[in-house]
Amino acid sequence: MRFIGRAITMEEKTIDAKNIGLRGVKVADTRISDVDGEKGILIYRGFNICDLVVHSTFEEVSLLLLNDRLPTGEELKGFQKILVSERGIPSAVFTLMKKLPPSAHPMDVLQASIPILASYDPELHEETREANLRKATRLIAKLPNIVASWDRIRKGLKPVRPRSKLTHAGNFLHLLSGKVPDPETARDFDICLILHAEHSFNASTFAGREVASTHAHMYASIAAAIGALSGELHGGANSEVMKMLLDIGELNWVKSWVSEKMRRGGKIMGMGHAVYHTEDPRATILRGISQRLADRTGDRHWLELTKAIEGATKEEFRRIKGKEIFPNVDFYSASVYHMMGIPTDLFTPVFAISRIAGWAAHIIEEKFAEAQPKPELYRPDSDYVGTYCGPQACEYIPVEKRTS
Ligand SMILES: CC(C)(COP(=O)(O)OP(=O)(O)OC[C@H]1O[C@@H](n2cnc3c(N)ncnc32)[C@H](O)[C@@H]1OP(=O)(O)O)[C@@H](O)C(=O)NCCC(=O)NCCS
Repeated sequence: MRFIGRAITMEEKTIDAKNIGLRGVKVADTRISDVDGEKGILIYRGFNICDLVVHSTFEEVSLLLLNDRLPTGEELKGFQKILVSERGIPSAVFTLMKKLPPSAHPMDVLQASIPILASYDPELHEETREANLRKATRLIAKLPNIVASWDRIRKGLKPVRPRSKLTHAGNFLHLLSGKVPDPETARDFDICLILHAEHSFNASTFAGREVASTHAHMYASIAAAIGALSGELHGGANSEVMKMLLDIGELNWVKSWVSEKMRRGGKIMGMGHAVYHTEDPRATILRGISQRLADRTGDRHWLELTKAIEGATKEEFRRIKGKEIFPNVDFYSASVYHMMGIPTDLFTPVFAISRIAGWAAHIIEEKFAEAQPKPELYRPDSDYVGTYCGPQACEYIPVEKRTS
């Protein structure tokens, strides 16, 4: 059931929209992106992602998201230059990584690195739009290095230096493997970054905006967003899809695995979406990339397995619920990243190195009220349903006299 939000009045101090995870409740205006869940359309600042993946790059899309318009050639060149010059990370981040156990989850390491970056940002507390743009640019530039360096350090390998001649996408693949990727794979990864860069008021973006609404700085807001992204119902779903692919292993297990999982009330990761009621347009594009990679590498196993799970889930969902279910952005990104040689537990951090552009745009929009009349601190309400002993409250019994 969809709840349609209504405006709060002076007489009426609360609206009842509880226990539905805020689904369908509008909490703010935004100029950054729009998701049409019925038609399966996603636009960034007015541009359809289907056009952006054909004509644009992650660098240009980042600037579009941050600035509300496509950059001129000069602006884009300048931005690319800054991104390249900001790829390095403080040695304190490497020191932290070297002290951590190799089992530390890459999302935790990424989140832990953010306050360190904050400590080295000369403009940390400068709260102008321009300074926040520069902080956003530094974060976009540095995140890939953190994710790739942690992967190498935990494996006992030396981190690799960023290469100024490579694109943002190509440089990440190089930092990870130590090898310059072929141009086709680098471009396919660039498209993945474009597709994951922004998605309106999802859980992590909302977390980031909520923290920004308290006047916390850009880095604190981003750390919150990273925490929200780590959950398996959000950004963690892509690595869960890969675990499922590895668990099922063979095509002939797909049907029984899916029906058994759903019979027990389990969720098929990467399927379904809180907003899309048709195919997520990002899934359509990622299916195409998965197909291209399978053709290029000659390894069709992961693509075929993913397609079979999609088919079996749709069939089972129709049988049990009498309705349709569609793949979301995470479903085909699993096979894509796997074929690109990215380790499974890096899938969610890879999501973060792209979504950082959208998060930063939202944090700036929130801080400077760029889509609403003035900044507002988020402060929702709740109904207390806990213990109640009457207006005088419960009698406090000292611990030594308590029997239960
Ligand atoms: C994303 C998600 C949380 C949206 O959930 P939602 O808003 O509750 O979606 P719906 O309202 O359409 O769900 C309707 C029903 O389908 C079920 N359902 C939704 N996704 C399902 C899935 N992937 N596998 C099995 N059942 C699913 C729900 O449990 C619900 O069942 P119920 O009516 O018995 O309670 C959900 O689809 C999900 O958990 N998917 C798997 C995780 C995932 O891929 N997350 C990444 C999202 S980008």
